Amino acid sequence: MDKILVQNAGKFEGQKVKLNGWVYNSRRSGKIGFLLFRDGTGIIQCIIIKNDVGEELFDSFKTLTQESSISVVGEIVKNDRAPGGFELLLSSLEIHQLIEGYPITPKDHGTEFLMNHRHLWIRSKRQHAILRIRHEIIKATRDFFDSNDFTLVDTPIFTSNACEGTTTLFETEYFGESAYLSQSGQLYGEANAMAFGRQYNFGPTFRAEKSKTRRHLTEFWMVEPEIAYCELDENIEWAEKLITFIIDRVITNRKIELETLERKIEDLEKFRGEFPKISYTEAVEMLHKGGFDFEWGGDFGSPEETYIAEQFDKPVVVHRFPTAIKAFYMKRDPENEKVVLGMDVLAPEGYGEIIGGAQREDNLDFLLERIEHEKLPQEEFEWYLDLRRYGSVPHAGFGMGIERVVSWLCKLPHVRETIPYPRMIQTLRP
Ligand code: 4AD
Ligand code: MG
Repeated sequence: MDKILVQNAGKFEGQKVKLNGWVYNSRRSGKIGFLLFRDGTGIIQCIIIKNDVGEELFDSFKTLTQESSISVVGEIVKNDRAPGGFELLLSSLEIHQLIEGYPITPKDHGTEFLMNHRHLWIRSKRQHAILRIRHEIIKATRDFFDSNDFTLVDTPIFTSNACEGTTTLFETEYFGESAYLSQSGQLYGEANAMAFGRQYNFGPTFRAEKSKTRRHLTEFWMVEPEIAYCELDENIEWAEKLITFIIDRVITNRKIELETLERKIEDLEKFRGEFPKISYTEAVEMLHKGGFDFEWGGDFGSPEETYIAEQFDKPVVVHRFPTAIKAFYMKRDPENEKVVLGMDVLAPEGYGEIIGGAQREDNLDFLLERIEHEKLPQEEFEWYLDLRRYGSVPHAGFGMGIERVVSWLCKLPHVRETIPYPRMIQTLRP
């Protein structure tokens, strides 16, 4: 007899199989029992008919409690009304652990309670669906770069310098000196691009974000492509293609999960393709027309980003930001030195920035000027400056925050549900 997974049940129609898992829910209607059984890949309904299985097995079924661990044996049958399209006609049941008092019940619990029980909460249908979509997004991201001739080149987490400003650095003691947890692998990504042409790095990044918002984590996962001989327009094209590829994959492979989250496929389909593009200056004009009191030169906050994104039905690319509000490594626009060749992708539906990137400053002197102006310790950047000394070329890249994308594609109210164990200000456990 085959030992199978719920998600493959359809391939075993008419066969007797075994499944290992846990009780999601159970109820009875007279002499028929209905057991919602989960195994981590999905939920299948098991039907237990007293007259067929006998009194002893039926009594044993009656004792089952939520999250007790069990194995079931039975025949897979088609039922179009059942979730997933198939059911199991149960013929035997083995109980591994019968439990009492599982903390999370079908009733409404507050967010704080659920967050404190995150290690159990991830078993719930909704959380499970989100994390499966997260996996799909990560897999799609890797497949996209792998199939476009990028090499995965890992970057360190312990670093001696800041990439994204010194205000959000996590400092740690490192054998008698200070080390900082990486805010972005980009600077190393640039070195990798000079060695591999097209590279991507992908890993956890850290920012001591002191503000509590629905978009910020202190530990989040970022994928960062970096491409040699690439300018701003091509960089934007890579971002568009990546997002479109991810959405296609999620639609194709995660229909059940999207349905669980009540996320409409038609809505996701609309987000694909070429994105509208506007300069920062055009975005500011747009804000003025919308009644915002916003001065050219400022950074967009969440209300501004939301308003700009609302003017489009696809993600919108904003480019050419004021030099003063952007990182030291962004290339100044040769046509207007007040702005840099940076770009952000803002997601629709109020999700804000999902991608931030730029063409990099490839001129050694301009870069030195920026390092000095930002009062960064030049000696810590000497290795990075070598990239401009030895074979400097136009190059560009971006960083996409996985959690922001999960949040948007799943239409979640808060980024804390997009990662198995979120880390935020005041959240270190479980
Ligand atoms: O815009 P950011 O800060 O860009 C960089 O770090 C560049 N060095 C990336 C590069 O060009 N290689 O961050 C990139 C993305 C943001 O667009 C957002 O999606 C995500 O990382 N992000 C966060 N996600 C969750 N919590 C936070 N605190 C985040 N900060 C940034
Ligand atoms: Mg940014």
